[in-house]
Amino acid sequence: MPRYHRTLLINDMHCGHLLGLTPPDWHRNDCTSWQIPAWHFYQSIVEQIGPVDDLIVNGDAIDGPGKKETTSHLTTDIGEQCRMAEQIISLPKADRIHIVKGTGFHTDGDTAYEDILAGAFGLKAHDELRLEVYGRKIHVRHVVGRSDIPYGQQTQMQKELINDILQAEFEDYQSADILLRAHDHYCFKVETADSRRGFMRIVYIAPALQMRGPRQSSFTRKLRTWKYDFGISLIEIDQKSREAFIRPFLMPIKHYARREYLCLTEEQK
Ligand SMILES: [Fe+2]
Ligand SMILES: [Fe+2]
Repeated sequence: MPRYHRTLLINDMHCGHLLGLTPPDWHRNDCTSWQIPAWHFYQSIVEQIGPVDDLIVNGDAIDGPGKKETTSHLTTDIGEQCRMAEQIISLPKADRIHIVKGTGFHTDGDTAYEDILAGAFGLKAHDELRLEVYGRKIHVRHVVGRSDIPYGQQTQMQKELINDILQAEFEDYQSADILLRAHDHYCFKVETADSRRGFMRIVYIAPALQMRGPRQSSFTRKLRTWKYDFGISLIEIDQKSREAFIRPFLMPIKHYARREYLCLTEEQK
């Protein structure tokens, strides 16, 4: 019977933001048109995936105090944002939970807010995380450079891979062969053959759990990227072959962010 080690990967929920993933207790009347479908999507995919060995929360679980503006926030109360994130993290059935810190802009203030969140589970939040599963070395960090050039994402991802190999050489540790990143709110995977280890080295940027629209905010006005992905990811590693399979579960953007034209001329009406 083949055994797969299963890890659920979630990130960028941005709890407290109007477009962040919001548990039903915090839904607001004028936002339910996207808060309800987002929550249903999350709930149904978590149910579909079922129990997992590990759950990794890779940063930006909360949106923070709104350092630049607060017009796009449901609440800027950090305690409340953490309680929302706690409900989201508690939904999947996982043997272990790992919480990795996100972007300082969202998650650091007079204290590291993700430490408060991790504390609710009796854990400590990690700056970065290294895990090993059936000999596969996994490195988890929130931040990775982004590119909005249609063919530029892979450059940033290969940089992560090569940097870890170089750093491993200089600092005398074993480099990772599965690098998990978040932060960019788009989903990409790059694989490079490693003949020495006998498998593909993988760099994966996971989709976010903050929506792109429909509500305009300074965040969505600024983010003019051609690529945006909302969803969660499942990583399965085969005990026998040590092969790693990473699958994103994505919500189609057009289901919640419509792009309609305001028709100004009679004949088109
Ligand atoms: Fe984010
Ligand atoms: Fe981030």
